Amino acid sequence: MERRRFLQYAGGSVVAIALAQCARTPNVQRQATRLASQDGSLMVDLTATASQLTLAGQSAQLLAYNEQVPGPLWEVQAGDTVQVNFTNRLPDPTNLHFHGLHIPPTGKADNVFVSVPPGEQQGYEFTLAPDHPGGLFWYHPHLHGLVAAQVFGGLAGPLIVRGAVDQIPEIRAAQEAVLVLQDFDLTRRGQLREPDPIFRRWGRQGGLITVNGDRAPTLTMPQRGLQRLRLLNASTSRIYRLRLENHPWHLIGLDGGTLPAPLAITEDLVLAPGNRADVLVAGDRAPGTYTLMSLPYDRGISAMMAGMETGSDPGADTTATAIAQLQYGAAADEVPLPKTLLASPSLATPIRRRELVLDHGIDGKQSFLINGKGFAHDRIDITANLGTVEEWHIVNRAGMDHPFHLHTNAFQVRRRNGNPVSTPVWQDVVNVKAYESVDIFVPFNDFPGKTVYHCHILDHEDQGMMGIIDIQASNARNAIAV
Ligand code: C2O
Ligand code: CU
Ligand code: CU
Repeated sequence: MERRRFLQYAGGSVVAIALAQCARTPNVQRQATRLASQDGSLMVDLTATASQLTLAGQSAQLLAYNEQVPGPLWEVQAGDTVQVNFTNRLPDPTNLHFHGLHIPPTGKADNVFVSVPPGEQQGYEFTLAPDHPGGLFWYHPHLHGLVAAQVFGGLAGPLIVRGAVDQIPEIRAAQEAVLVLQDFDLTRRGQLREPDPIFRRWGRQGGLITVNGDRAPTLTMPQRGLQRLRLLNASTSRIYRLRLENHPWHLIGLDGGTLPAPLAITEDLVLAPGNRADVLVAGDRAPGTYTLMSLPYDRGISAMMAGMETGSDPGADTTATAIAQLQYGAAADEVPLPKTLLASPSLATPIRRRELVLDHGIDGKQSFLINGKGFAHDRIDITANLGTVEEWHIVNRAGMDHPFHLHTNAFQVRRRNGNPVSTPVWQDVVNVKAYESVDIFVPFNDFPGKTVYHCHILDHEDQGMMGIIDIQASNARNAIAV
């Protein structure tokens, strides 16, 4: 029997974890662990190891946080303090990044310039602002050059921040499930396969897609009630095109942002690496089982592969895959879809416009470039001033999608290919398709210091498509002069 497991809870408390258990496994038994803050603080002991685990019902040699793939779910409230005691038991250096959180990029907070050597420990500590957006965030390694391999080994974990969106009555009443999407490329003996150089270049993908570490798990949702699905694309390179077959679903949020009102998903839901989607499914159809499908998505590889004498891509997106089943369970109290959610964010007028050109080329050993340059840890590419808003024109001159991600500050996508976006929402990853452009508005309200922006196809980031931004407290100069 296939082992199936879901993190499933309503109103913040766990109501069900195991749906079915494998009779016996000789490997470390994975538990769906939820680490919740208490009295305003969360303390986490987190250890990264290379471990023999069970993945999708088979034994696999993976990289894991606390012997789990995905890592434990952290759950905190806006305003909470988080302390992490991190131990690196991997054979290589690593570190931690808190993707999407609006916290300082310096010191022991979300500092990706820290390196934790094998066998060493590192403390991380930060406090969320009381008005931090509620949303699904995640933690993963971020040491330049090793990010793709470590994330592809399984290192990723979800992090929920409870905020204003969670106070909306219908959402409070909804049953909630977190779905962490990952893909793997394993040998028959369950070893991680070394990617072919060409797929490392384009972004490694695996043919095994898992949801919370399982293949096509079944989730029971309340008949008549509301099911909230919180999806995280924790894959290294794979862009998911998702469809809930024969069943309506509504988007209520993207990354760390909430929409002004639920939006019916009429086309498929496309999630680039790093993206999250917050979705509501009303249990108002005929009771039954509905399939969540991952459909083919071409991020520009097929054109590049045409005529090449490579083997076939193990993760080639040519087939549709059922990745989860939603099964109607017992009838619950009827919960309607909320009519409104949170007001659209407003922003001051940008004080300057920058252009960031994503392209392929050669800079030293690196071949994925921003404005003609590959990443250099000692070069500052952008200097921004605290208290300002900037407009960034991001242009993709290459024939492959590049999902653009910025640390520390979320942004609003205002235009795609010059056309205004009707409902801007706070995002931190935006997919810039081949030969397309997007215009984003970024506020730098707080948190001075150096941080990064990069392509979230992590092989591209490791091969140079990353830059450093230094956010400067320009007022400090005036303050001294006074
Ligand atoms: Cu999800 Cu810079 O990363
Ligand atoms: Cu990030
Ligand atoms: Cu890219």
